[in-house]
Amino acid sequence: MARYLRRSLILFLVLVSLTISPSQGFLGTEKKIKSAVFYSPKLVMNPGSVANPYLLDIDFPRGHIGLKAFDAEVVDDAGNPVPLHETYLHHWIIEPYYVRKGSKLPQREMFRNHGFSRQDPESNLDSKSDIILVKNGGLCRSVVLRHYFGLGSETRKTSTYLPDPYAIEIGNPEETPDGYEFKWLLNIHAIDTRGVEDKKGCIECLCHLYNVTIDEYGRAIRPGYKGGLYCCYDKTQCRVKSGFDNGEKTRTLYLKYTVRWVDWDNSVLPAKVYIFDVTDSWERSEGSIENSQEHICHVEYEVKPCKTNGDGCIDVRKKSLMMPFDGYIVYGVAHQHAGGIGGALYRENGEGICTSMPKYGNGDEPGNEAGYIVGMSSCYPADPVKVSYGETLKLEFNYSNDVGHTGVMGLFYILVAQQLPEPENSLPKLFEAPARSLIFLAIFAATVVVAVVVLIAVVIYRRQNREDGYQSLST
Ligand SMILES: *[C@@H]1O[C@H](CO)[C@@H](O)[C@H](O)[C@H]1NC(C)=O
Ligand SMILES: *[C@@H]1O[C@H](CO)[C@@H](O)[C@H](O)[C@H]1NC(C)=O
Repeated sequence: MARYLRRSLILFLVLVSLTISPSQGFLGTEKKIKSAVFYSPKLVMNPGSVANPYLLDIDFPRGHIGLKAFDAEVVDDAGNPVPLHETYLHHWIIEPYYVRKGSKLPQREMFRNHGFSRQDPESNLDSKSDIILVKNGGLCRSVVLRHYFGLGSETRKTSTYLPDPYAIEIGNPEETPDGYEFKWLLNIHAIDTRGVEDKKGCIECLCHLYNVTIDEYGRAIRPGYKGGLYCCYDKTQCRVKSGFDNGEKTRTLYLKYTVRWVDWDNSVLPAKVYIFDVTDSWERSEGSIENSQEHICHVEYEVKPCKTNGDGCIDVRKKSLMMPFDGYIVYGVAHQHAGGIGGALYRENGEGICTSMPKYGNGDEPGNEAGYIVGMSSCYPADPVKVSYGETLKLEFNYSNDVGHTGVMGLFYILVAQQLPEPENSLPKLFEAPARSLIFLAIFAATVVVAVVVLIAVVIYRRQNREDGYQSLST
């Protein structure tokens, strides 16, 4: 009899816990975060080669969602992470766009004809285009730096996660123009530095190492331009040590990316992406806070070696920019290249908003490559930082210039929420709370009743079986 009681008790406990655990989900306020891993189309690399493709219509979660994070790294065709000293990841960026349904042209062609160069920078919706880029909140007016997420060598150890209750709203059906579909563009810029003569020179895109005198569009490289994006475009080739690229060195690589998101609903608060560039041409003009045309972002700059040949020379760049929004900064991170020693965002009075510091590797393995920036620290202000329209914020970017650097960057990403969550003890919540506990109590009571009935049934059934001399279970 004791055995039956014990078994019945276990059965009872199992039933109770089965019934209660879903109700905990009901009581919780955490939204379910979904996650999926994707692989980009392949990149075929050889020693010294550069790939910088714009990949259209990449795999991505569909529907009206809130993006929480986008993490990526380069892997080989066995799925193994590839270290930066073999394939330097200059950057990857992702950006949404709309494409007209039933367009006949191949999408790549449409992009060339209507996408980047010809789009009216003032309007997000150019009705004549087959392709419409969906741009971030700002500030750059050109077609560059209008993406949603983007990182470089630091991708493995930089947090892109956006804490609850915020997310980046994507795919709102009400915002999709009639006759268009929502898609994603991925640009990956990778440089294969196996066997090259000068790794630092190749990753800083020194023009002479690439033997480049005209840019991607056939224009002459301007005199005095030593290196940067204009010299390491798609299919250029960095100089390799003689003899190294003989033999089978071709490899196929992929960008492996992990997207985290939530389904969109009223409990999610939208946050917008803004990117600040320390090379932005904007200057405050007297008596005007209108800032429509002046944001020409050069993206990259050159750091000249210091003249005093001392250790610990620092190149400091600053830029003041006027904010074209009201909102709350809930996340911040800087992007720098090797040589970088920190980026920061301040208020006009010097009060710090976010300092983002590089992490350098000190080994060989992926995620810890010596001499490379393998991560940037990001900011999650405990109290979101309020910013008002017309306010000026200051950017500061430091590079070590014991030696010179070409093609370096000073970008600052922030995520801005328009609205903060309601305080916990607001009126509607107070009214909700008793209702919730009542429902919980009701479920609990129902569970107990069901469990007792089952328990009695089991005990009666067991008794009958025993009287029949039949043992159904044995231990
Ligand atoms: C560099 O480019 C020039 C003309 O574009 C070409 O004649 C020359 O052979 C190239 N040098 C190397 C080393 O590839
Ligand atoms: C940049 O360097 C200056 C001068 O050394 C220093 O005062 C400042 O705090 C540094 N900023 C960052 C973001 O590291």
